[in-house]
Amino acid sequence: MGKKQPLKQGEKILFGIFGVFLGLAVLAYAILEIVRLKSEEPIFQSRTSYALSEEGKLGSKLFRERRCTACHRAMRNGTNMGLNLDGIGSRKNVDWLYGFLSEPEKYYGAPTLDHGYRPKEAAYVADLPESERRAIAVFLSELKSERGSASAWVPPEDDSGFIDKMIRLWAPPEWAEKYEDVREK
Ligand code: HEC
Repeated sequence: MGKKQPLKQGEKILFGIFGVFLGLAVLAYAILEIVRLKSEEPIFQSRTSYALSEEGKLGSKLFRERRCTACHRAMRNGTNMGLNLDGIGSRKNVDWLYGFLSEPEKYYGAPTLDHGYRPKEAAYVADLPESERRAIAVFLSELKSERGSASAWVPPEDDSGFIDKMIRLWAPPEWAEKYEDVREK
């Protein structure tokens, strides 16, 4: 290897494009951080919460130790590649959760992918000791979400013109008779 070779035209363009992207990414990140630090209200609001009981704490530990985090996420633990279970306690009660962990096929209400009978990958969950399934169900039932958040079952409390408009636009009229409006409960 002798003298350093000058960059070819194509390489210059390629590195140039990469440099522009990198620069923009750094700039965007810096702007976001400045806005975040200056803003009076939190710009990333957390709409999920948890207040764990003693059994819930045990369930939370088991949730990690029994590899639920390989496919799920809750309280900032686990993977984004599966179902996020934050807020599930606002949609399902402890009996349903225990039932699902024990007999998924019966409770899920649709064909399951991973929970259920062997050789499905999460079949082992139903074989965990009863006390562990119970503690995990308690833990999950304590993961709550606010009305109207992405993980909540029910829309926000106040009337929403946006939701009314979307329903008018997308829902076939016969749904009004077929289904109950969860906002009227
Ligand atoms: C191999 C991946 C995998 C593992 C491991 C796993 N799950 Fe799941 N889980 C799923 C999938 C996929 C679903 C959706 C139902 C289905 O298709 O089985 C699901 C659904 C659920 C649901 C119902 C969610 C809803 O909105 O109805 C709960 C609760 C749940 N899992 C809890 C657990 C717990 C607790 C563990 C650990 C003991 C666990 N899962 C381990 C993949 C997994």
